[in-house]
Amino acid sequence: MNSIRRMTSMLRNEYHGEGLNLADFSHDPVEQFGRWMEDALSMKVREPNAVHLATADASGRPSGRIVLLRDFSLKGFTFFTSYGSRKGEEMKQNSHAAMTFFWSDLYRQVRLGGRVTKLPSEESDAYFMSRPRESQISAAASHQSRFLESRELLERNAAEVDEKFRDQPIPRPENWGGYCLEPDYIEFWQGREHRLHDRIVYTRNSDSAGWTIRLLYP
Ligand SMILES: Cc1cc2nc3c(=O)[nH]c(=O)nc-3n(C[C@H](O)[C@H](O)[C@H](O)COP(=O)(O)O)c2cc1C
Repeated sequence: MNSIRRMTSMLRNEYHGEGLNLADFSHDPVEQFGRWMEDALSMKVREPNAVHLATADASGRPSGRIVLLRDFSLKGFTFFTSYGSRKGEEMKQNSHAAMTFFWSDLYRQVRLGGRVTKLPSEESDAYFMSRPRESQISAAASHQSRFLESRELLERNAAEVDEKFRDQPIPRPENWGGYCLEPDYIEFWQGREHRLHDRIVYTRNSDSAGWTIRLLYP
């Protein structure tokens, strides 16, 4: 254990990303995000749409976890989960949330923050219908983030859902669906040599029309 701790303290990679040029960045941060997602896809980064989602309860106590980004546009960044989960409960109490992407092969990070809203139920229905039946059953069988007595109980719940809807489509559970995070800031970070990294941040103008783009010290 001590040797692993020592190794952890000594890990030191150099980052060799190419510099960011403000003039090459899009005026629209979502379009810029799309370019970086495209780079991540073409570099065959593993799980490029996996994103850390931070939420906080009413008292401001934070919690984080990974979810999968399912769509992004000027309206916001969407993901799907259980409305009754810990994150769901927190977003009910406090609509502020933040996301962090990390694409290690590219030495890149994107951070964004803003407010979350639930997607309209038709959009959640449409996405739920597009999922494999097994994933639909798992969503219906799970009370995400509640204590579970045993693995057998979860598997029994899944078998019961499968049996109940044999030869029928699985309906979307009422407490499962999408959220949309509408960002008011988006920051692009590029790792560079000797820790002299680049950062470019977009902040939404107070009249909501357009964005201000600035550099940040790394
Ligand atoms: C790669 C990866 C992708 C995940 N995708 C999702 C997802 O899209 N939706 C989701 O609810 N949980 C997803 N999870 C599980 C969450 O990280 C988390 O365990 C779960 O949502 C419960 O979180 P909570 O108790 O904070 O609400 C994913 C986990 C990993 C590691």
